[in-house]
Amino acid sequence: MAAPDILNGAVPARAKVNLFLHVGDKRDDGFHPLQSLAVFTASGDSLRAEEGSGLSLEIDGPFAAGLQKEQDNLVLRAARALGEAAARPADARLILTKNLPVASGIGGGSADAAAALRALCALWKLDWDEGRLREIGASLGSDIPVCVPSLPSFMEGRGEIVTPVESFPRLALLLVNPRVAVPTRDVFSALTQRSGVGAILPRGRLRDCADLLRFLETTRNDLEAPARALQPVIGEVLSALAALPGALFTRMSGSGATCFAIFPDDDSCARAARALTSAHTDWWIQPTAVPEFNIAHEETGQDIGP
Ligand code: C5P
Repeated sequence: MAAPDILNGAVPARAKVNLFLHVGDKRDDGFHPLQSLAVFTASGDSLRAEEGSGLSLEIDGPFAAGLQKEQDNLVLRAARALGEAAARPADARLILTKNLPVASGIGGGSADAAAALRALCALWKLDWDEGRLREIGASLGSDIPVCVPSLPSFMEGRGEIVTPVESFPRLALLLVNPRVAVPTRDVFSALTQRSGVGAILPRGRLRDCADLLRFLETTRNDLEAPARALQPVIGEVLSALAALPGALFTRMSGSGATCFAIFPDDDSCARAARALTSAHTDWWIQPTAVPEFNIAHEETGQDIGP
């Protein structure tokens, strides 16, 4: 596998945003089949892996407190699973900087686990391809495989079938979380209306923002209604986002409660963030961007930018 993309000695664990999410009928294994388009933002958590004897995890950052009481963090489970698959002791000192809210529908825990797989592959000098890491990830959680490459991709199956899009435009995106945790399992349990998983996915037709918006208008997030029923404040967030000048499209991500709005440019996104911050001082409000992506550049090894 290519060396992980290192930021100040740490592997980025980018926020995952589901631009749409369609769900089918529950399968015999208890999971739901789904179709989704997941994209990854410039901002997120970050993880450092250093030599250590035994396995340890330190957590810092603004949302560290939400994870301290968790004995068996997904990052530790990913490290143990990789050590087992590589038939070696899972020795490492892991340092996670938690910038993303926990249990918030933007894949924080999954992105952290995927970052741990990438960082430990480098630390333990395992020359493994991404497919193998995605398989280990899938054994730990449905959202982890798509977080291994962290590139704009369609998700199918229970989430583990990942197909990168051919091209994706740069997006200015505002993320907002009203600081309520929503457990994914509870949202799936409260689901009543499903779109099914028969949508035709435009793998090669997302060249610009207008193409993307035309496609998104034909889709939904099926988990939005059950998540709003559990946490009505999500409805307030969506109304506040839709009322912001310049907001082109608003929706909830994943199983919530984080919602997003797409803006035409970074300036209007930053202005919207300032306006919302002054009205809702208690919400987590993060202006960010999805980098432009072109699979042809990726395949020829060209840099895809920040
Ligand atoms: O795979 P993960 O552990 O993230 O899933 C958490 C819970 O979300 C599952 O236990 C299941 O209740 C629900 N889920 C589902 N169908 C999926 C993904 C998750 O029902 N495709």
